[in-house]
Amino acid sequence: MDDTTPLKLKAAAAAVDLVASGMIVGLGHGSTASLAVRRLHQVMLAGRLENITGIPCSQQTETEARALDIPLATLEEHPAIDVTIDGADEVDPELNVIKGGGGALLREKIVAQASRREVIIVDPSKLSEKLGTRRAVPVEVIPFGWSDQKRFLESLGAKVTVRQDASGKPFVSDQGNLILDADFGPIADPAGLAAALKARTGIVEHGLFIGLATDVIVGKSAHRVQHLRRASGGPA
Ligand code: A5P
Repeated sequence: MDDTTPLKLKAAAAAVDLVASGMIVGLGHGSTASLAVRRLHQVMLAGRLENITGIPCSQQTETEARALDIPLATLEEHPAIDVTIDGADEVDPELNVIKGGGGALLREKIVAQASRREVIIVDPSKLSEKLGTRRAVPVEVIPFGWSDQKRFLESLGAKVTVRQDASGKPFVSDQGNLILDADFGPIADPAGLAAALKARTGIVEHGLFIGLATDVIVGKSAHRVQHLRRASGGPA
């Protein structure tokens, strides 16, 4: 347990408090989202929540949720998700977010866009004035012609590294794609950059989540959270 774990735990617990019995719940990926999955399990075991169905954002989350006997389904079975709880790598004051540090950005974004409420849970180290200040933007590319996408990102001003797994081989996503980590530095126009990345053939998806988060819950201490809501987002 590092210093941020109690803060992540508090944020995870506050997010699970937004879940009601009978809901379809998107289960995010990463260390903070994993704490929310475990919290959800505890609350279900305690009988406070019943008839919960989870939609996992990654193979790893699916494995973890199955081990906890959380009932799971697919987006085909439940195309509308009530609430998704997920982590983030960087969050700006407009609640725009960089995600994909764990390599699950594609499924995370598919689940987020299908969610009535996208609740991002973070510790304060993830907050920044401008996206790109703290983290590179993960960009998922198909393996065919990947170096062309690397050059494209460099032409936009990024320093690009090919993400590696623990054994030093190229990281392969759940969809069999590569991840290029594109360090743009502070990004003046995240929506404009997102549009440019989206328009490039060979880029499958990128980690800029613009206008998707309805809520950001920041664990400020082991006992206190800050709950930020998007003005035009889901019900507060
Ligand atoms: C997974 O692909 C990511 O989007 C994670 O949600 C993000 O990297 C945050 O992870 P941690 O909670 O482990 O910091």
